[in-house]
Amino acid sequence: MEEEKLETRGNPEPERKDPREKVIVLKNVKKIYHMGKERVHAVDGVSFEIYRGEFCCLLGTSGSGKSTLLNLMAGIEKASGGEILIKGKSVRAMSENTLAKFRQKNLGFVFQSYNLIASMNAVENVEFPLVFKRVPPKRRRALAEQMLRQVGLADRMQHLPKEMSGGQQQRVGIARAFVARPEIVFADEPTGNLDTKTTMEVMDLIHAMARRNRQTIVMVTHDPRLAEYADKIINILDGKIQSVEVRRSAEEIEAECQEEIRKYQEEKQRRKELRMQKMKNLRDSMKTGRKKKANAKEDAAAEPAADEENTVLGTAVTEILDEETAIEEALKKETEAIEEKAVTEVSEKDE
Ligand SMILES: Nc1ncnc2c1ncn2[C@@H]1O[C@H](COP(=O)(O)OP(=O)(O)OP(=O)(O)O)[C@@H](O)[C@H]1O
Ligand SMILES: [Mg+2]
Repeated sequence: MEEEKLETRGNPEPERKDPREKVIVLKNVKKIYHMGKERVHAVDGVSFEIYRGEFCCLLGTSGSGKSTLLNLMAGIEKASGGEILIKGKSVRAMSENTLAKFRQKNLGFVFQSYNLIASMNAVENVEFPLVFKRVPPKRRRALAEQMLRQVGLADRMQHLPKEMSGGQQQRVGIARAFVARPEIVFADEPTGNLDTKTTMEVMDLIHAMARRNRQTIVMVTHDPRLAEYADKIINILDGKIQSVEVRRSAEEIEAECQEEIRKYQEEKQRRKELRMQKMKNLRDSMKTGRKKKANAKEDAAAEPAADEENTVLGTAVTEILDEETAIEEALKKETEAIEEKAVTEVSEKDE
């Protein structure tokens, strides 16, 4: 009905606007480093937009300006020119204090060198961003543990960074970046120190985490294979954008999010059932234990009766034995009597 009405009105098809929020907008951003008299144009007039929920890769060779660009977006470094808007707010206009709070509230970071605190164990490292968010200690611990379980480190919670492999440390790094559910996660070569197999596992993990919560990812890499994960690839060379490649539409991203959420719910359900089964087994074994104990008690209580039984049995056996002896004796007597009689008869005959 609605469609018919629109058709009869004969309105021209309105231009389809992407309804997604532009969470990151860069307009002609520049960063110039002064090295004595020399000027290094690390970022040289860069403009692009990233939508909410996009997995975006900054791809370029070493020295192309990727890390500088990421640091500018995260407000870690100040741009020399241009404008950077994160969630509609100008990073440049924010005071240090406001910026620090903004970062804590909205941004997460994954670093190439993991950047874990050496004296803190896995769960304490993951809890760390929640301390700034004033999450109460018990809740903090529960959330951190939940995250570590999600990244497959349930059995490494108490390990210090030096007691974990590189891949495991980066999993802790990912758990820490995602624990406070930031809207945007920046990752600078997060797999730079890992072997190929672990790299793929870590990439899958970042991808899954982001999809599960519809988070925006900006990841720096020089590896075109990793850019395969991206919905949008921004190619950079000598501080300039070479090309922007959109690989997935909003609908495709949403479909992936829904699929990941479904998988996660299933996994959660599976874990819940497993937990319930374990609890049931535990309860059953406790019941069996209690029964055994009760039986043992009964047995102990029944022991005197058994003794009595034995006594009765013993008496019976003695009686039987006595009887047998009596019969034997009687038989013996009888045989003797017969023999005596026979002897008497024979001697009488002889006489
Ligand atoms: N603090 C600095 N002072 C001077 N020059 C710098 C500084 N930081 C970076 N540069 C220069 O800016 C350029 C871009 O550096 P950047 O670290 O952003 O590159 P990158 O793409 O991240 O490289 P890589 O893949 O090796 O990490 C390089 O030429 C580098 O030498
Ligand atoms: Mg770099």
